[in-house]
Amino acid sequence: MKIFLDTADVSTILTHFETGLIDGVTTNPTLIMKSGRDPEDVYQELAEAGVRDISMEVVGSRDEMTSEGRRLATKFQEVATIKVPCTPDGLYVCNQLAKDGTKVNVTLIFDAAQAILAAKAGATYVSPFVGRVDDNSFGGLCLVKDIANTYKMHSVETQILAASIRNVRDVGRAFEYGANVCTLPVKVFDKMYDHILTEKGLELFDKDYAAACKS
Ligand code: E4P
Repeated sequence: MKIFLDTADVSTILTHFETGLIDGVTTNPTLIMKSGRDPEDVYQELAEAGVRDISMEVVGSRDEMTSEGRRLATKFQEVATIKVPCTPDGLYVCNQLAKDGTKVNVTLIFDAAQAILAAKAGATYVSPFVGRVDDNSFGGLCLVKDIANTYKMHSVETQILAASIRNVRDVGRAFEYGANVCTLPVKVFDKMYDHILTEKGLELFDKDYAAACKS
């Protein structure tokens, strides 16, 4: 049951990494653009800080994705997970990189059929986009469940990395339905700590502790 952060904001990642609860980071071109940083500077700083699994998305043609994926895998070694789209080219690249022993995250998964192809291409992770499926009036968590059941039935080793998660309830459900990893925006991760009854219970315990110390 791993938790990744879905952001390219290095300082926020590093603060949260200190909790000891974060197992990795996923980035994508949109998140890199929002950070305003060079992607490799982001990966470098995260790797130096001890983040052991960083999804680095490659773009372009089959050859461009293959050579860029190989270059990043050589530079960042076991820390690198190369992220490719679930397209014929993306899955071809997945196959090539997997044969090299490189971890690959096949992204933009919206159907169990795509997850089947990604597993056959040797993906380490598949990323079903829970929130974006929900946005289109289908069930994002049902997709996670369908993939998990299929993988389990056929003893597939590819891990399900639930992505595009928008709320805490979906984190619990995604793990319950068989996700191996949830990648979360920082604000969703932060909210996982919260419960009104924890706050109220703590308030009471603090008050009673102070009273107990006085008496
Ligand atoms: C994960 O790898 C994706 O980059 C991400 O979860 C997409 O989330 P969004 O649908 O909120 O953009």
